[in-house]
Amino acid sequence: MSATVIAWLVAMNPDPVPSLLGRATEVLDAEFARLPDYERVADSGEEAIAGVLDDVAHRLRDNYPYFHPLYAGQMLKPPHPVARAAYALAMKINPNNHARDGGRASSEMEIEAVAGIAAMFGWKSGEFLGHLTSSGTIANLEALWVAGQVSPGKRILGSEQAHYTHGRISAVLKLDFKQVATDNRGRMSLEALEVELRQGNVGTVVVTMGTTAIGAVDPLVEILALRERYGFRVHVDAAYGGYFGLIADDLDSPTRQAYGAIGGADSIVIDPHKHGLQPYGCGCVLFRDPAMGRFYKHESPYTYFTSSQLHLGEISLECSRAGAAAVALWATQRLLPLERGGEFAKGLAKGRRAALEFDRRLREDARFEALGGGRPELDIVVWKMRAADPEAASELAQSTFIACSTRDLHLALVQLPLRWFDPAASSEKSSGANEGKAGLVRCLRSVLMKPEHEQWLDAIWERLMAASREATEA
Ligand SMILES: Cc1ncc(COP(=O)(O)O)c(C=O)c1O
Repeated sequence: MSATVIAWLVAMNPDPVPSLLGRATEVLDAEFARLPDYERVADSGEEAIAGVLDDVAHRLRDNYPYFHPLYAGQMLKPPHPVARAAYALAMKINPNNHARDGGRASSEMEIEAVAGIAAMFGWKSGEFLGHLTSSGTIANLEALWVAGQVSPGKRILGSEQAHYTHGRISAVLKLDFKQVATDNRGRMSLEALEVELRQGNVGTVVVTMGTTAIGAVDPLVEILALRERYGFRVHVDAAYGGYFGLIADDLDSPTRQAYGAIGGADSIVIDPHKHGLQPYGCGCVLFRDPAMGRFYKHESPYTYFTSSQLHLGEISLECSRAGAAAVALWATQRLLPLERGGEFAKGLAKGRRAALEFDRRLREDARFEALGGGRPELDIVVWKMRAADPEAASELAQSTFIACSTRDLHLALVQLPLRWFDPAASSEKSSGANEGKAGLVRCLRSVLMKPEHEQWLDAIWERLMAASREATEA
C-alpha cells in the first residue's frame, strides 16, 4: 500500500484518541503543576522512541484487523476511544488498585464502576461485594474459590458447553467438577442436571449465560427453582453475555426470562473486556452476599495502614491490579451509562439484529445448515456446510474459512455436536441428554459483536457467497 493511500485512509477514518489524549494529558499535568520540575532519567530521547514505535506499528500489522467490521470471527472488538484514552491517561500515574496508597482515585472509580455493573442486575451498593479482576478466568476462579469455602468438598456442576476453564479452575482449587449434558440448543439439560442433583453432594451449579461457542443461555429460571429444592449455590458465568439484559426485550423467550432472573444468582461474572468496550485486563466478579468478604480476610504487613477505608486488595485474590483498567471502565460508563435504551444498549442491539439477519439468510440457502433448535440467542451465529458426510462438511468449512480470509472476511471455526443440526431437533425439549456422545462436526462461526456489523452485513454476505462458491468448486 502506498504512503498516499495510507494517508487517504487515515484521513477518511481518523483515530480520535491521539488528540483526545493530548488534551487530557495537559489537564492532568496541570493538576500536578505545583510540584518542582525534575529531569527525567533514561527516557532515551524522543527520536529513538519514535523509531521503536514505528517498528512496533509495523510488527502489529501481523494481526487480523479486529477493529474492522470485516473481522467477524472470535469475541474481539476494539475498546471504545474513551476507554483507550482514559487507560493511556491513567498510565501517566500507573495506579495499582491493590491498596488505597497505590491508587486512591482509581480505587474509588473501580467501586463506582462496579456499582454500575451490579445495578444492571438489580444489586444495590452496600448490599453486594464485587471488584474487577484481570480476566474472566480469574473472576470465575474467585467465584468458585468462594463456592468451595462455603461448601467444602461439595461438587461443582457446569454444562458441557461451559467455558473450558471451569474444569481447570476446579482442578486448581481441588474441587470436583462434573459436566452436565446440554440440549440441542447448547443449553444445560434440566433432566441431566436433576439426575446429578438427586445423586447429591452438589455445592454449586455454574450457569452459563452466553456460551463461548454459540451464545447459548442456560435455563436460569428453572435452575433457580431447583436451588429451592436441592439447596446449592448458583454461579452465573456471564463473562460474554452479561450485558444482554440491557436489551432483554430484543431477545426471544425463554432467553429473556433468564436475563430477568439473573439477580437471583449467588455470584456473577461479567467481562467488560468482552462486550463492555474495554481493553483486555478487565473482568468482574460480584457476590450477592457481602458477607462473602470474610473468606478474603488476610493480613498484609505492607499496605493496609494508610487508610481506614476498604482497600480493594482486601476483597480480591490478586494483589496488584491495573488501576488504569478501572479508570477506563469508569470513563466508558460515564459516557455510555449501562441503561436500557441508551447508546451502549443500542450498540448491542445492532449486533443482535445483524446476527438474526445473517442466520435468516443462512437458513434460506441450501448450501448451509443452521442450528436445528432455532435462531441465535445472542449475537453469535454458527452454521454447518452442507456436504455428503461430516468429514466433508468439516473440510468444506475449513476451505470456506480460508477462502473468506483471502477476501478480508475473517470468520472463526468451531467444533459442534452433529445432532445440533438435525432439523428434527427443533423442539425446545432436550433430546441430547439421553443420546450419548454424538459425533462432532467443524462449523463456521461468526461473533457479530460490533455495532458496525449491521451496516456491513451485505458486504460480509457477498464475500461469504464468493468464498463458498470457490470452496465448493475446488
Ligand atoms: C463464557 C466464558 N467464560 C469465561 C471466559 C474466560 O474469560 P477470559 O478469556 O477473560 O479469561 C470466556 C472467554 O471467552 C467465556 O466466553
